[in-house]
Amino acid sequence: MSTIKTERRNLTKSNAHYKEAVKHLPLGVSSNFRFWGEKETVFVKRGKGARLWDLDGNEYIDYRLGYGPAILGHCNDEVDAAVREAQSTGTVYALGTEKEVTIAKLIKEMMPAADLVRFSNSGTEAVMAALRLARGYTGKDNYVTFEGSYHGLFDATMWTADPESMKDQSRDPVLISYGQGIPKLVRQLFWQVPYNDANRLEDVLKQHHDSIAAVLIEPILGNCCGIPSKPEFIRAVRELCTKYNVLMVVDEVKTGFRVGKGGAQALYGIEADIFTVAKAMANGYPIAAIGGKEEIMRKYGKGVAHGGTYTAQAMSLAAAEKTLTILRDTDAFERINAYGKAMQEGMHKVLSRRGIPHSFTGHYSMSGLFFSAQAPTTYRNWKLSDYTFYDTMAGILIDMGVMCEPDSREPWFISAAHDEACLTETLSKFEQAVDLTLDELSDGGDHEGDNKLMPGISG
Ligand SMILES: Cc1ncc(COP(=O)(O)O)c(C=O)c1O
Repeated sequence: MSTIKTERRNLTKSNAHYKEAVKHLPLGVSSNFRFWGEKETVFVKRGKGARLWDLDGNEYIDYRLGYGPAILGHCNDEVDAAVREAQSTGTVYALGTEKEVTIAKLIKEMMPAADLVRFSNSGTEAVMAALRLARGYTGKDNYVTFEGSYHGLFDATMWTADPESMKDQSRDPVLISYGQGIPKLVRQLFWQVPYNDANRLEDVLKQHHDSIAAVLIEPILGNCCGIPSKPEFIRAVRELCTKYNVLMVVDEVKTGFRVGKGGAQALYGIEADIFTVAKAMANGYPIAAIGGKEEIMRKYGKGVAHGGTYTAQAMSLAAAEKTLTILRDTDAFERINAYGKAMQEGMHKVLSRRGIPHSFTGHYSMSGLFFSAQAPTTYRNWKLSDYTFYDTMAGILIDMGVMCEPDSREPWFISAAHDEACLTETLSKFEQAVDLTLDELSDGGDHEGDNKLMPGISG
């Protein structure tokens, strides 16, 4: 039995703020997924670098980074200065600017599949625009997605394998929508196939390619433990799309400018027909981009609609220019990867010493920690696993000031601002949290700070 005890942190001000907030905002927040319970919902005062502080002054090392965007750390001085400078020339004019060409060139330089680029405001918007482009270009309406993927809060992709129906793994799971308000009619437009299973994809494409515009794929399942594509799988997806005359749309909203300069496409040596990037491209300022092959992208304006009042808004462009330049010209990616590797090695030592089976998924910059010797390779495998240990431990870590994701499906994100001090503190607290979790679970008791398991959505 461990003798360490952790006090539940003081959330008096956050709790009081929740009571006020809920009078004005449903669930007291601006995204359903920020509500962690009446007593657990955290309200942030400020962030700097790899740390953030809540209303009660609790300090956390942040491994959520706003679900990924803060790749250089919160309030990066250079990015923020560029944004302030841009502010003096105005925000939106419903006209083009020079800056959008500068950023388009930067994206093209870093991501070779981009012959041309268009901007959006969020990941959701970019994926919607990419899907519309694929449909407009091919003249086909249907599409394929993969189990466990997440592509944003829009009707076409808000469908998931029902966890309940996955208990019997001999049958395909039942597909359900992420909630109410999503028309059942949409279900007729797509097929959802198991991740990392090229044979199942080919079965669908062989039969239905005449009506399928696109295969929409996340190269790493950023909302399902960071399960990565097997290299042979994603290359097969590329080949199958070409073979069956279907566009490969790679959703790099999370992986783009995070797993490396060229995103996951460079990592796997593939090129999309169309891809999307968002989160890490502007260190938290709202902007996204769609990139792709010239012939396809030129359909924008020649039959396919795209636009929006705030697209390529000046401050987000300025943030993107500075962020992408830093990512291109400095050793930020190397430092992020080195940190992620050292953190995994440290956690591995702690867990191995205690004989706790575990594995890591994803990429050093966005990795999942998994409590079984074999990491899951599909959403179906994940569902079969026991995630009680993770969920208990995450609640304890958050109480101790390590802001990891309470849902085991979300990866831990690393920024270039995570430093040696963060690493030492994280590993020391991780060791204590593991022992406390072992105690908790052997007692069969509940840790007071447990967070509710939320749906695997980062929006
Ligand atoms: C792969 C992927 N696509 C799209 C989105 C939606 O992006 P946003 O939340 O900016 O709308 C997300 C968000 O987490 C994502 O992870």
